[in-house]
Amino acid sequence: MSKEEIKKMTGDLYFEEWYGIVKPVIESKEFQKRVYFPQHRHSNVFEHSVLVSYEAFVISYHWKTFDSRKCAIAGLLHDFTPYLWKEPQEDSPLEEAYYKEIKQKKWKEPHSTSHGYDAAENYVKYFPELEDKEITDDIRSHMFPLTRPPRYRSGWLITYCDKRAAFKDFFRFRWKRAFK
Ligand SMILES: [Fe+2]
Ligand SMILES: [Fe+2]
Repeated sequence: MSKEEIKKMTGDLYFEEWYGIVKPVIESKEFQKRVYFPQHRHSNVFEHSVLVSYEAFVISYHWKTFDSRKCAIAGLLHDFTPYLWKEPQEDSPLEEAYYKEIKQKKWKEPHSTSHGYDAAENYVKYFPELEDKEITDDIRSHMFPLTRPPRYRSGWLITYCDKRAAFKDFFRFRWKRAFK
């Protein structure tokens, strides 16, 4: 997804400041594949992660109470798992390795409690230069209260923005159906 397409999703407010931070991740080949990872009802992992990252960044940047750079990165990579958790569309171009992982996962612990840990590991694998214990903790604990609580304030913000994005996606669906 290009910068211009992303801007249409997020809006203008602090866009350039945010994009300057997330550019290396968002333009990487591996992150771009998240377009093909289904997420909640009507979004994919790419869109969902961009919205969580941007919202967390705007709040933290505006109020100057959090480290907005860490919020932007943690928000973008909080669901950066190395596997799919839902069946993709039939024409998905993803390699077989992404499917194998999810099939194995089904026999382990539930996605809701495990994927934060897997995303935290995967982010360090692909972006070792961004490794940071606060970002790692924010990603691991973003499913609170299904996992332990976050240790940092940025983690609470990511948790909030993640749930908000999921609810918005759900109601977008309801709204469309109600007025069809
Ligand atoms: Fe998640
Ligand atoms: Fe999420």
